[in-house]
Amino acid sequence: MNLSAELDRWLPAPTRELLTRIGYCAAQKGYRACLVGGAVRDLLLGESSLDLDIVIEGDALDIARSFGTSGNPAPVLHERFGTATLTSGSFRVDLATARKESYHSPGALPSVHPGSIEEDLLRRDFTINAMAIRLGTERHGELVDPYGGRGDLQHGLLRVLHEASFKDDATRILRGVRYEQRLGFAFEKSSLELLARGLLYVRSISGDRLRHEIEHMLAEREPEHMLRRLDTLGVLAAIDESLSFGPGQFEAFRHAKANQLSAVRLESVLWCVLGWGLDKERLASVATRLNLPGRLLGPMQDSFALRVFEADLDRPGLRPSDVVGLLCDKSIVSLSAAELLYGHPLARSRVSLYLTHLRHIRPALDGRILRELGFVEGPAIGSALARLRVARLNGEVGSREQEVEMAQRILAGGPGTDS
Ligand code: CTP
Repeated sequence: MNLSAELDRWLPAPTRELLTRIGYCAAQKGYRACLVGGAVRDLLLGESSLDLDIVIEGDALDIARSFGTSGNPAPVLHERFGTATLTSGSFRVDLATARKESYHSPGALPSVHPGSIEEDLLRRDFTINAMAIRLGTERHGELVDPYGGRGDLQHGLLRVLHEASFKDDATRILRGVRYEQRLGFAFEKSSLELLARGLLYVRSISGDRLRHEIEHMLAEREPEHMLRRLDTLGVLAAIDESLSFGPGQFEAFRHAKANQLSAVRLESVLWCVLGWGLDKERLASVATRLNLPGRLLGPMQDSFALRVFEADLDRPGLRPSDVVGLLCDKSIVSLSAAELLYGHPLARSRVSLYLTHLRHIRPALDGRILRELGFVEGPAIGSALARLRVARLNGEVGSREQEVEMAQRILAGGPGTDS
């Protein structure tokens, strides 16, 4: 099968030409170049992929070095890994040497030796990712599909390439679930059985690698389906027995994605939702297992307190200043999660009101003005400002003039206004 037409259709001319030139450059040196992995899968699915992986049967660094000297975009060499990266518009082209791998223990990094394209494809996660397209030369565009990837793609199946795949690298379980849900595919029967047995090896994966896999999911269009599937398959419990993903979290994910949040904010909110049911000890254990960075752990700890506050926030007759008192030291991210997860409408609307309105309310007067009014430098100013803010929040003062009057009453030692 030849996929030149698909390459023409899905890649812009400069990127296509770049791939062809890499193919020719390889041929001149007696090597062979192939486009591999996700880009081939996506091309066959009728989609384009911005990450293009090229495998060289030969020496990728040799190609990259000579390529950079002949008027082509300059490659960035990663000598330690024997790889190089080129950029073509919004496309990223990675060059690597074809290799075969062997795993000495589950989850450990494999030992790597140069190999053929077939060997390189054999070390991959699923058949649908184990296809290649030849570049340059007279075989340009030819599909290399030694393991039946195209058939599996047509039938919507995720199939591992060998029995030890999940044992060698249990992150493939999470990758598989990501593809399954993203593409609407299903695990082929024996691969699903191997997945169930492979859960045992999730514990051999480092926290950072597991966290990265979850981060990849959170960046997908519908991560809620992936997390729910991880839960059903027992993958979340295999990561940490206290992790789960229920219907409330599913709905919260859906709504979070619909909100117009920045990617960074959205990711943190989703982590808070994921950790919502955890008490302090369990959160600490998940944080250790996934090596969660402080930027995520802080808001997740706030979420724990916010869960407890839901009943307080649901009490009728709460004044705006009481709401601010409860919520003012909680991160915006954890509050956004609470807004999505609270079951009590009154509590939820108070969090929304705090986020959109109450947190921005400040008195019109500041410390400088209070000094001009006669306040002495020191704690009295802070306390007067706090009382003014409470009065503002509760609508007891509504203008600068009323605040001045109140400040003068406080200064005179009077009650000011009840706070
Ligand atoms: N791969 C693998 N096992 C892993 C990670 C990656 O076999 N644990 C292989 C797969 O063949 C994959 C390729 O390396 O296609 C590139 O990895 P990555 O960029 O993560 O995968 P993509 O398929 O490009 O995924 P996505 O579409 O999500 O970007």
